[in-house]
Amino acid sequence: MYFKKILSKTFAGACVMCLLTCFISCATPAAFGVLCDGNEWMDTQGNPINAHGGGVLYHQGKYYWYGEYKSDFTTAAMVGITCYASKHLRQWENCGVVLPVVDSIGADIERGCVMERPKVIYNEKTQQFVMWFHLELKGQGYNAARTAVAVSDSPKGPFRYVRSMRVNPDVLPVDMSDKQWGEMMQLRPNDYKKWWTKKWRTAVEKGLYLKRDLSTGQMSRDMTLFKDDDGKAYHIYSSEENLTLHIAELTADYTAHTGKYVRVAPGGQNEAPTIFKRNGTYWMITSGCTGWDPNAARMFSAPTIWGPWTQHDNPCVGEKSEITFGAQGTFVLPVKGRKDAYLFMADIWRPKCPSDSRYLWLPISFTSEGVPVLSPSTTELN
Ligand code: DGJ
Repeated sequence: MYFKKILSKTFAGACVMCLLTCFISCATPAAFGVLCDGNEWMDTQGNPINAHGGGVLYHQGKYYWYGEYKSDFTTAAMVGITCYASKHLRQWENCGVVLPVVDSIGADIERGCVMERPKVIYNEKTQQFVMWFHLELKGQGYNAARTAVAVSDSPKGPFRYVRSMRVNPDVLPVDMSDKQWGEMMQLRPNDYKKWWTKKWRTAVEKGLYLKRDLSTGQMSRDMTLFKDDDGKAYHIYSSEENLTLHIAELTADYTAHTGKYVRVAPGGQNEAPTIFKRNGTYWMITSGCTGWDPNAARMFSAPTIWGPWTQHDNPCVGEKSEITFGAQGTFVLPVKGRKDAYLFMADIWRPKCPSDSRYLWLPISFTSEGVPVLSPSTTELN
């Protein structure tokens, strides 16, 4: 204190103080602390952040968080996709609804449809922000199983809706051998009407539903996007009746699929895929399929995006690890400028009052072998 007082009395002292402060803040980056541990999270105007099933894009010094606007009494999309912006991940400014639902009857994104898990990536070549999300058509429950794309010239929108689709019609996965193709082509759906039998499981693994949907395109529900270091981007989604994940390459402008894709964990029932890359290894954390109820997370790794993908133990440890601490993952955000800082973003769903669903953002820690770990005691990001 005394030292401070004397120094601040002189101009030189003020300069020294300035340098000292700068030195301290440059040498030790400020800790982020707890970002969100399931308590209500307010935006800069004091309103609860409404951006569920979301993902975050870092662009020119700012983070942009895109998510589903959830209403009070329905999980259907009554408003659209929202965006919040932040410099340091803690305070989020509401940028509004960047892709609103529309009121034209029969439109893909008609009010009352389902718009889930939006993710946005930036395309350097076209200088466009490209959003993909899971779309279910109004009044059809979850049967449409489509994905949709929208584009914008600015991270703050507005996004222009482009189209929706099933994925890669008439195309086989690149990891299917001729022998496997032959076996799949012999499967007849009528022989497997009863689900969950051993016989049915084997048929699912061999591509029972892949074959069924070949001509119409593959189903696409829970999803995320991943942009690799070389600028290539991938769409990762729950397909084949939510039983098998697909990883599909996007075209150079990120608005369509190239036709190159692989199946991951056939018959494994994975939803809520999240993916990140660390020291050359691709990590994927997913959930099981229990609707809005939480379940145990699963984890996979691969040396390339195309696999082979190996399953690991549940990455969660500690109390409630068997239900991912009550949450379900939606995105893994690599924190800009920090080595080894990855945030696992998850939603704590409250389907009875969807707007009151919460967020759990957990920094990922790593074992000495480099295996990701999620722990409720590590909610602080340093
Ligand atoms: C779980 C998914 O992860 C959510 O995004 C949502 O589609 C619910 N299922 C619907 O039950």
